Amino acid sequence: MTESNFIPKPYKKSLENGRFTWSSPSNIALVKYWGKKEDQIPENPSISFTLNNCKTTTTLSFTEKENNNEFSFDVFLDGEKKEDFKPKIETFFKRIENYLPFLRHFYFKIETSNTFPHSSGIASSASGMSALALCLMSLEKSLSDTQLSNTYFNQKASFLARLGSGSACRSIEGDLIVWGTHHEIDGSSNLFGIKYPYQVHQNFNNYQDTILLVDKGEKQVSSTVGHNLMHNHPYAKRRFEQAHDNLSQLISIFKSGDLDAFIKIVESEALTLHAMMMTSMPYFILMKPNTLEIINKIWAYRANTNSKICFTLDAGANVHILYPENEKETVLDFIKTKLAHHCQNEHFITDQIGFGANQI
Ligand code: PMV
Repeated sequence: MTESNFIPKPYKKSLENGRFTWSSPSNIALVKYWGKKEDQIPENPSISFTLNNCKTTTTLSFTEKENNNEFSFDVFLDGEKKEDFKPKIETFFKRIENYLPFLRHFYFKIETSNTFPHSSGIASSASGMSALALCLMSLEKSLSDTQLSNTYFNQKASFLARLGSGSACRSIEGDLIVWGTHHEIDGSSNLFGIKYPYQVHQNFNNYQDTILLVDKGEKQVSSTVGHNLMHNHPYAKRRFEQAHDNLSQLISIFKSGDLDAFIKIVESEALTLHAMMMTSMPYFILMKPNTLEIINKIWAYRANTNSKICFTLDAGANVHILYPENEKETVLDFIKTKLAHHCQNEHFITDQIGFGANQI
């Protein structure tokens, strides 16, 4: 597949107006994407668990307009008009225009809401951009006279979502998603996410993710700035190789269900992501004292019990705690009694692996 596969034939049908709604999840990377080339091409492959409860629901209403000169749209979050969301969507539209030539033909009303609090520090770009990409695909489907297969629909939705926010391409379909070319993973692509195609041990069924909200503030470093820090980074080359190696190792770990080996890869990936930020120029520390408190308590808990609990981090201070379903009760008790007070307002969100987006 190349980019040109996603340029549509001229549309035969026309539509005056209509609306589509999609609900799309967030995801949490196990092997992290950090560093990109032109056109949102990742420097290394990544793999993520799709979440089940942290979702964005977006309704795209469209009305045909008189002239096709410019993009015309408004964005609402929880019913409130959001002027500050517009530049990001304008950029997104410019990037995907080639692949969706109808974009200038309609006025769009984009109404969006998240199941998680907006100011929770949980990034909504993955769920938000994937939900919008899916709505736009529904519109394309209605304009096309040929049937779009499900595979093509999802692949193109992921392809478009990637152009909105890289990690959004891992939020379309499936529970375990690979994005980025990897020599041992058939069908893997830099252009879109695919469902992990090999055997996954039952130890990973309904894997749990409790997100500890350590810092609900705005991101200290935007993703765009963060990814750019990997250009001319002294350790970038080795880091990108390491991501390939870690993904290779995960293939046998997913097959065998070896959770001790899983923990080593996942925690090392999280700390490496932060190490990259600490060693870039300019440099950043995105962890907070409570992030470290939590990590140390997780390590102590694991040493004192037989638990397979582990942590991962995004590009911020919040901690994702990953654990098998059979430890749900004990780990939640541990979180409530020992970790919650390290979170802002004792706030944490319990989630688990989900299966992707759905149309509403
Ligand atoms: O999708 P972006 O450009 O916001 O990048 C997200 C990068 C990380 O969340 C830090 C890692 C990942 O792979 O999701």
